[in-house]
Amino acid sequence: MGDHAPGQASDRIPGREPGARSFAPDGRGREGSAGGTAVQQAVLLVGGHGTRLRPLTYLLPKALIPVANLPLIAYEIIPLVRAGVGQIIFAVGYKADLLRRELGDGSAWGAEFVYVEESSPLGTAGAIRNVGGRIDGPFFVLNGDIIYDVDLGALAADHVERKALVTFCLRQTDEIGQFGLIQWHDDGRVHEFSEKVRHDPTGRNTVNSGFYVMSPEILDHIPADQPYSSERELFPALLSAGCRLFAHLPQDQGYWADVGRLDSYLQASGDVLDGVLRWYQPPRDGDIAPEAAVASSVSVARGARIGPRARLGPRVAVGASAVVSEGACVTNSIIWPGSEIGPDARVSDAIVAGATVAAGRVITSEVIVG
Ligand code: GDD
Ligand code: MG
Repeated sequence: MGDHAPGQASDRIPGREPGARSFAPDGRGREGSAGGTAVQQAVLLVGGHGTRLRPLTYLLPKALIPVANLPLIAYEIIPLVRAGVGQIIFAVGYKADLLRRELGDGSAWGAEFVYVEESSPLGTAGAIRNVGGRIDGPFFVLNGDIIYDVDLGALAADHVERKALVTFCLRQTDEIGQFGLIQWHDDGRVHEFSEKVRHDPTGRNTVNSGFYVMSPEILDHIPADQPYSSERELFPALLSAGCRLFAHLPQDQGYWADVGRLDSYLQASGDVLDGVLRWYQPPRDGDIAPEAAVASSVSVARGARIGPRARLGPRVAVGASAVVSEGACVTNSIIWPGSEIGPDARVSDAIVAGATVAAGRVITSEVIVG
């Protein structure tokens, strides 16, 4: 794994170096309590193995893979804190120690962080039940691999107003097969949830965005200490029992991506570098030689070095302490912290995760781990 051992990598997750921009220190930059409601807690589901992102997830848990020089989970944490959430509960399992070490107690992020570890995976609902002792009001639940630009306050307000048990945030998409399809009546009441089906007979194509608001009573519907899936077991059971499940379709369909696969990771990284998120401008730091050509959609983290005549972009993120040597050319790629791109190498549509690309080598559509 070269010089990118997890322990070292966690020190170098970009955006969190000492002095790096902090988004909501001491609650500054908050937009107030979510929708003026009592949604003060969030549960983040970050216990999965991230198998579709291997080999990257052999090195880091999915939540910590760098996206435009922030760990993926930051794209959930920052909007939650800005919406007034004061406590974030991480339902952890795979590589839990790395997560805990990297994210800390939350003081650097403006919220209290709590970690609840599963000794074996409890599934997306079992994980929620497992943190139940900490819940004291309606709470957000987020899959840990979503980048979104959605008004959380409106979602929370909808939930409280409708006295719902679960409120789903919906998304319209043509690729329903990768997601949970949600059927709902015109008043928003959900009547069917089907995970990963290929066709929506209504043509409405509204899917589960991977985040919800739930009321604490949900805990009574989930069996304790055993694997249980929200999507395949809990939601269908709740619907059969006539529970109050509602759909919230945001008026403003801001950016949204599930960063669950290598191609969606590369795509989302490029999108963020292109500036799709209204609240985040990726950093342009590091030591960039004056003779280097660097496109606007390129982020260079603190401590990275870009050599003379190197050409970067479009859509390239270079992590902390990475080196892009003289004459190298990098396009549409993610260069993790500590990677090294040798002189005159050409790297395109690739992810270089702590590896060295030899001088003059040509890499296209590859994932290379150190
Ligand atoms: N704590 C814990 N324990 N977390 C888990 C477990 C577990 O046993 N299993 C999965 N997770 C976490 C994953 O780490 C991930 O963040 C989240 O739950 C969702 O798992 P994915 O594997 O990413 O699910 P998906 O992308 O196929 O589908 C889900 O997300 C879609 C939206 O992106 C479903 O919720 C779909 O209905 C939804 O449309
Ligand atoms: Mg996912």
